[in-house]
Amino acid sequence: MNNTTIYLDNNATTPLDERVFEEMKPYFFESFGNAASNTHVFGMTAKKAVEDSRKKIADIIGAQAEEIIFTSGATESDNLALTGAIEASPKEKKHIITCAIEHKAILDTCSVLQKKGIRITILPVDENGIVGTEHIANAIADDTVVVSIMHANNEIGSVQPIKEIGEICREKGVWFHSDATQGIGKLPFHVDDMYIDMASLTAHKIYGPKGVGALYVRKDCLISPLIHGGGHERGMRSGTLNVPGIVGLAKALEIACKTLEEEGTHTSSLRNKLLETIEHCSKTLRVNGVDPRKNPELRLPNNLNITLYGDEGELLSGALWNVAYSASSACTSASGKQSHVLTAIGNNSGENTTTMRFGIGRFTKDEDIETICSSIKEMMS
Ligand SMILES: Cc1ncc(COP(=O)(O)O)c(C=O)c1O
Repeated sequence: MNNTTIYLDNNATTPLDERVFEEMKPYFFESFGNAASNTHVFGMTAKKAVEDSRKKIADIIGAQAEEIIFTSGATESDNLALTGAIEASPKEKKHIITCAIEHKAILDTCSVLQKKGIRITILPVDENGIVGTEHIANAIADDTVVVSIMHANNEIGSVQPIKEIGEICREKGVWFHSDATQGIGKLPFHVDDMYIDMASLTAHKIYGPKGVGALYVRKDCLISPLIHGGGHERGMRSGTLNVPGIVGLAKALEIACKTLEEEGTHTSSLRNKLLETIEHCSKTLRVNGVDPRKNPELRLPNNLNITLYGDEGELLSGALWNVAYSASSACTSASGKQSHVLTAIGNNSGENTTTMRFGIGRFTKDEDIETICSSIKEMMS
């Protein structure tokens, strides 16, 4: 890896915060016990760390400790929420509502369920990537089990009207699941205030370790497990617990939520500076999603997604030779396909265009953005 490369892909993943690593460290070495070993101090220490972390996470999101299930990350949490809710529902209940810009962890799970006879409604979004609440209300039917709408989008950063959607679902008596992976730690999040019944989260988007996450499941919400085995997590998710990872998830969430406002100010000001510089140098710029200067509350503070046409795209790519950004979204770019999110907001620009996603982070320095902006100005004006 080239250590002169500036990392601007924090919506794909984030580096581990050293404070998180320090908290995790003892659970790799001296307190390495299996949290299920209840006959000795190694196991009991590990179990206490898990339960303390569970309580910490629950307190932060307004839940109760027993409503948190630890998983391997948001992909597993999303699978568990939807498949688990369908499997636990009576046979006549077989409808899921979601939207066109969800992460593939939701959309692909829905496709699999559809092949098994589940009815799936995929709602459209507007040109800013926002779901209309009226569509949700109209789509709910007698056989609806769950509505799943993400908190914030991973590609274009659009923030959904989660509280309003939650209120509609609560009124109509259907479960509301939200993939909170991108929003949590960047935007206020509280399961009661937002009428959320299930929420997916992951540590690696908030400066925690990869491979660990959680699913919040409200106490009165029934789901069936996907992974069977030793009966861990009250039978909801078997498998030896990733103790250092769980400790890291709790610490990462604690830091992110404590510093949410100042970090939002930091990342959004750098993001806006980058946008303004590109805007100044480009005649073909299209901002994908909400304009953060007009409606900052409708876009993740750290996210920018743009399309440039023709030579301008190539010039900008040249200016960013030492910047790590995403061609659209790391999550979809692995499959090499056109982004379903851009298609859903009506950006079918296709050939001769360049689309870039930038994710500013906690550790992005003012000088990093200054360097990038100078390079853009030099190359493009
Ligand atoms: C919105 C969203 N959901 C789910 C995921 C998957 O999370 P994980 O990598 O923890 O499986 C991601 C990131 O890749 C994401 O951005």
